[in-house]
Formats: sequence, structure tokens, C-alpha cells
Amino acid sequence: MKLLVVAGARPNFMKIAPILRALRNRLDADTRLVHTGQHYDYDMSKVFFDELEIPEPHHFLDVGSGSHAEQTAKVMMAIEKVYETEGPDAVVVVGDVNSTMACAVTAKKLHIKVAHVEAGLRSRDWKMPEEVNRVVTDAVSDWLFVSEPSGVENLRSEGKPADAIHLVGNVMVDTLLWQAGHLKSEDGAVAAGLARPYTVVTLHRPSNVDDADSLRSIVEALGEIGRDMPVVFPAHPRTRKKLEEFGLVEVLGDAARILPPLPYNSFLALWKGADLVLTDSGGLQEETTALGVPCFTVRENTERPITVEMGTNTMVGTSKAGMLAAYDLFRRGERKKGRIPPLWDGKAAERIVDILLRH
Ligand code: UD1
Repeated sequence: MKLLVVAGARPNFMKIAPILRALRNRLDADTRLVHTGQHYDYDMSKVFFDELEIPEPHHFLDVGSGSHAEQTAKVMMAIEKVYETEGPDAVVVVGDVNSTMACAVTAKKLHIKVAHVEAGLRSRDWKMPEEVNRVVTDAVSDWLFVSEPSGVENLRSEGKPADAIHLVGNVMVDTLLWQAGHLKSEDGAVAAGLARPYTVVTLHRPSNVDDADSLRSIVEALGEIGRDMPVVFPAHPRTRKKLEEFGLVEVLGDAARILPPLPYNSFLALWKGADLVLTDSGGLQEETTALGVPCFTVRENTERPITVEMGTNTMVGTSKAGMLAAYDLFRRGERKKGRIPPLWDGKAAERIVDILLRH
């Protein structure tokens, strides 16, 4: 079976790594890797290939940034040529970024089968570009590989055939457990010159960072938290740009240390040792649940409800008052215990590859 695996943006790289590793041992698979180039900075892309031991892509599409339509169109035009020259039996797409959706739709129109890893997640928030990408990608996918039970329910209620839906666990957790087992320096706090307790923050959702009022209210809350407990903030390039543009670096002042985006292992060491993680990332909600680290999600909804129902995740909203109220409870000792969701055991990618190659 000839398979084409696609990745485009930072959160895709940790998802393809275990799938490629599982495929490497299979003589019945001929695998090609495509990097769309949606993320292109060294610290948003290349460093993850190096650390996660992802092989050089066979095709690099170099699409870069742009409006949603521009980026999606560029990926579609470039991947169509790759499909035509490679002629794969199936394409494997992961997650919910623009590259995922663009490559899935283009494959379907060329009658190439599509496997979607991380299918079925729904925030029901149509203002999130990722929600559009998720729904469209699932609509054209032949294999729907699901990470948590809510995804199975969502796909069933949307009328997807039962034999296309496979609850396999979480490939992001595969990478997490693999890398955590290989960490050279366990102590991210020492590496960052910090002493516990400390908080790690990440923010990049357009709804949080592109609007000056929203970002200001989050930054003001971080300022107060940071005066109580050190805050480290590895900032996505778009977030850093917006902090500077809205004059909010000064508002944060000494209350938080802003860092560039970190490589996978340094970041893992940092948040693994943190007392609290504050984030609007999808992946980090899952990762903190997998390692039992308290997480506040700075959003009004989540497409990953298992992290709240079973894990250590608390939805705190995006208002300053909501964030500070949650922090106040945390400081008074209110901590979620959390359990590990079913099948988040480091073997999701092997299950996926078994199912794919069985067909
Ligand atoms: C994308 C994904 C999002 C994911 C996030 C993780 C979509 C719709 N969004 O959002 O789901 O959580 O990646 O990071 O696909 N930029 C750089 N260097 C880079 C890449 C981006 O400076 O290597 C800057 C550019 O200013 C760019 C902006 O970040 O315009 C946004 O990049 P883009 O790929 O459009 O979306 P992300 O916000 O990164």
C-alpha cells in the first residue's frame, strides 16, 4: 500500500512522528512524507523534525503564511501535483490545521482514500478556523481515527458509517510518552533558571490574541498571577507580534518572562515541572491530562471534553475575572486529581497502522 503522510504546522509534527515510526517497521507499506510548509521558521518546524527524529520530507511545498483562503489554495494547488506524480493509495492527514483540510479535500477529488487522525473532535464554535477544518476533513475521510469517546459520538450523530470510525487513542500522547522517557534534562525549571512554584503560559488562538481588548484582559490577569508566582511564556510568533503591536509587553512588565517558541523537549521539561499551565492550545490540554499537570484553558469551549471530564483541565474562560477567580481557588489548594483517558497508552499509532494496512 502506498501511503502519503502529510504535515504542515507545529502541532502536526508530534502527531506524524509515531505514525511514521510504526510504518517504518512494515514491509507492506511504501510511505512518502509531505511537509506543506505552513509553518516554516526554524523554531516552529525544523527543530521538531530533528528532535522527534522525523525523516526529511520527500516533498516540501513551501506554502508559508497568508489569509486562510490563500494558504488553503496554495496547499491544494501544490499537493495536487504531488498526488498526480506519486499516485498514492491513501493519504494520512492529522489534526485540524489548514493543511489538513486542504490535503484531504484535494485527495478526495482525485479519488484517493483519506485517513484522518484525530477525527470527530468538535468545539461547536464555528468562529474557530479549526472547527471548519475538522468538519470538512471528516466529511471526506474514509478512515476516522478518534482519540476520545466524544469523537465517536459526534461522528455517529453526523451519520458516519460505524465501520469507518475507530477509537484508537491519542498519537500526541504516543510522542509525549516516548519523548518523556528519553528526556536528558528532566528539570525544565533549572534549565529556565526558575525555582518552583511557577506557571507556564501559551497563547496563540486568533480569538484571544488578534483582538486588542481580549489580549489586554488576558495579559492583565497574567500580570496579577505573575506577581504571585513566576510566569514563563514561550510566545508563538503571531502572539509576540500582537503583544508588541498593542503595547502589552509593557503591561506584562516583570510579571512574566516572554521566551521564543521552544523546542519540543525543552518545552516538555518546562511544563512537566510546572505547578500550573495556562493555555489556549488544543494539544497542551491533552498533554497536561496525560501527565497529570493542572491546566487552565483560556477559552470558552473545548473540542477535547475528556480532558475536563477525566483529566486535569479546567475551562476558565477568557475574561480577567474568570481567570483570576479560578487562580484564587487554585491558590487555596483546589486541584483536580485527574485520570488517564482510555487508550492514551503510547500505542495509538500502532493501532492506526494495523487498521490502515489491514484494508
Ligand atoms: C496554526 C493552526 C492552529 C494551530 C497553530 C499552532 C490553522 C488554521 N491554524 O495557527 O490550529 O494550533 O498553527 O501553532 O491552520 N508565523 C511565523 N512563522 C511560522 C509560522 C507562522 O512567523 O513558522 C506567523 C505568521 O505571522 C503567520 C502567523 O504566524 O501569518 C499565523 O500562522 P498560520 O499558519 O496562519 O496559523 P497559526 O496561528 O500558526
